[in-house]
Amino acid sequence: MSIGKPLPHDAAQLSVTGRARYLDDLPCPAGTLHLAFGLSDVAHGRITGMDLAAVRAAPDVVAVLTAADIPGHNDVSPNPLPEPLLAEAEVHFAGQALFLVVARSHMAARRAARLGRVEITPLPAIVTLDQALAAGSHFEGGPIVWQSAPPDFTGLEILEGRIEVGGQEHFYLEGQAALALPDEDGMTVQSSTQHPTEVQHKVADALGWPLARVRVEVGRMGGAFGGKESQANGPAVAAALAAHLTGRPCKIRLDRDDDMRMTGKRHEIRIDYRAGLDASGRIRALDLRHMLRCGWSADLSAPVADRAMLHAANAYDIPALRIESHRLRTNTQSATAFRGFGGPQGMMGIERVLAHVAHRTGREPLALRRAHLLAAGQATHYGQELDEAPLPAILDALEARADYAARRAAIARWNAENPILKRGLAISPVMFGISFTLTHLNQAGALVNVYTDGTVALSHGGTEMGQGLNRKIAQIAATAFGIAPEAVRITPTDTAKVPNTSATAASSGTDLNGAAVAAACARIRARLAAMLAAKWGCAPEEIAFEDGKVRADTHAMPFAAAAKAAWEARISLSATGFHATPGLDWNRKTGRGRPFHYFVCGAAATEVVLDILTGEARVLAAHIVHDAGASLNPALDRGQIEGGYVQGLGWLTCEELVWDAAGQLRTHSPSTYKIPAVSDMPGVLDVALWPGGAGAPAIHRARAVGEPPFMLAISAHLALLDACAACGPHWPDLQAPATPEALLAAVARARGEGDA
Ligand code: MTE
Ligand code: MOS
Repeated sequence: MSIGKPLPHDAAQLSVTGRARYLDDLPCPAGTLHLAFGLSDVAHGRITGMDLAAVRAAPDVVAVLTAADIPGHNDVSPNPLPEPLLAEAEVHFAGQALFLVVARSHMAARRAARLGRVEITPLPAIVTLDQALAAGSHFEGGPIVWQSAPPDFTGLEILEGRIEVGGQEHFYLEGQAALALPDEDGMTVQSSTQHPTEVQHKVADALGWPLARVRVEVGRMGGAFGGKESQANGPAVAAALAAHLTGRPCKIRLDRDDDMRMTGKRHEIRIDYRAGLDASGRIRALDLRHMLRCGWSADLSAPVADRAMLHAANAYDIPALRIESHRLRTNTQSATAFRGFGGPQGMMGIERVLAHVAHRTGREPLALRRAHLLAAGQATHYGQELDEAPLPAILDALEARADYAARRAAIARWNAENPILKRGLAISPVMFGISFTLTHLNQAGALVNVYTDGTVALSHGGTEMGQGLNRKIAQIAATAFGIAPEAVRITPTDTAKVPNTSATAASSGTDLNGAAVAAACARIRARLAAMLAAKWGCAPEEIAFEDGKVRADTHAMPFAAAAKAAWEARISLSATGFHATPGLDWNRKTGRGRPFHYFVCGAAATEVVLDILTGEARVLAAHIVHDAGASLNPALDRGQIEGGYVQGLGWLTCEELVWDAAGQLRTHSPSTYKIPAVSDMPGVLDVALWPGGAGAPAIHRARAVGEPPFMLAISAHLALLDACAACGPHWPDLQAPATPEALLAAVARARGEGDA
């Protein structure tokens, strides 16, 4: 059985030897044209004139396209609200695409794009959350409110505060890219997208074509992290449009600076909180105000903000919780999906409140957290009863593994003796809901073909972005047929093989597509078993597929021979499979129901050291205990946990997005935007897959692993807060990201020096 084995990522060797083919590595047909966008450098304004003569006259330019050239709809939105590919009358952010240059080379297109003279009469730009709030600039008409019970603060001690958490650039290594190939009767688009079906829809819509004329293929992405769930639509539609209008293959690969200036990022959030505490420090009532900066278009902001609300209490029981969520429209890049999809922002709020409560009451932070944990059978604030509650046991395992109590005592001694270097240690749990909250997206399909030599080629609706989906799916198919995973080939995701797919997102790629593949394999297996049962005179259920053989009792034959025999008997060796997650029931208007199939839990202990003279900080050690269920592949799951943690660490420490007052993004390249480097890795990064659980109600009882570990990094922010709190008696009120500036300000507040 190959499930459960720590097999390496199928592209590991290819990637490190440079042989993995990303979109830009695909050979282009002769005559392929290259594209570049002309961008607005104004955040908000009315277009009064577009003089593109110099662009058209530039060397090697073949065509220059504007909104007027689009035969169908000028719309790349992932929701019913329109989002133009190319600006029409108004521009809404600095970096918005105005026109599209089609040229004989990538560089010629980029050079020409700079020559456009677009007259824009500036209008007042809404850049900050405060400006958006003051202007009442909301999506969805105003704030969305959910509550479990009205918070009543009578007789309770009141604690109020605010946390601001910055956004995050995805920094996928492979930028946005697409290659459109006109066919005799349609178009094939190669796209670096998490959502090939949506690209198919948007291309068809822009060209005014039926869906069947457009085929979208995805080989692999060089990282996506949510940044290619909707943001790949624009480049793909641009390539298809140019290919349609010129009749030539067209390719686009965004330059890194353009990619960062044009595409959406994680939502920045501000959370105002008002907590009511009883005498033991238990939160009895909580009022939260989420304010999310959504950027100029609706994009995925509604479901992201919903998920922030769904995770606003993390794993805790808050008897009366009210959440008011403001989805604010600003003249900045349209914030979008990013690993955790609002969950991390929601959890930062409650973890911050608990840290504040611990500071105010002097209670031990972990004990305080444990006292608030939801138990099995209890309902979350949106009314979903928990089938299981593994966190107390996970925290026990983590406390032991991280030697938490002894290290806290040692850190207290260290901090008493050292005036300059302060240490901090904190544990935080994660409870993340698995399923798309738009219930109908929880479906997947697959196409499995067995050949007469016993090898298998399959296609499923998911996309490979580095997370290891294809390896896990190969393990599932290999296990179904009892063959080696090397005998299973996964062909590129293709809308012509598996139609009407959902985005590979919400961590559910393996759960959904793995189950669809297993269903397809089961159909082929049933046909083989029926054939052999008749031949061997046994019941089909007695036939086993294992070790490359099909056998029953004393009979056995190689799987390849069985496949060949089926072909000779004119039995189909090809099947589709389908899966839909059962038992979901969710009403986003009322904020009540059962949106999640199950939860993924884990916990992390992070220790940091902070130099209070420079504000420099390091993670000394991170210990993690995480529930991956019956892991399909422990090596890949470890990779997801380590990578998720470090990406979360970047979000909360060194990654800082800066817009100036005019709405220009000032951090649009690696020289100004700092993601964690190898040197920022924790000194100790100890990851244990928790063996204690019964597993998930998903394929082979494995648990989804893509997003939940990201939120384990909240423990690093809490540890930094802990280190700041060691500098003085006052509440340090550390904000995120905890850059050296933010840390120094927090140290000053802890000492009662006010803002430094
Ligand atoms: N891991 C890698 N290496 N690259 C990625 O782009 N995306 C993350 C996560 N892990 C990502 C990743 C996000 S945002 C999601 S939703 C899941 O993978 C998607 O894949 P899955 O559903 O197959 O886990
Ligand atoms: Mo992940 S943010 O759901 O693509």
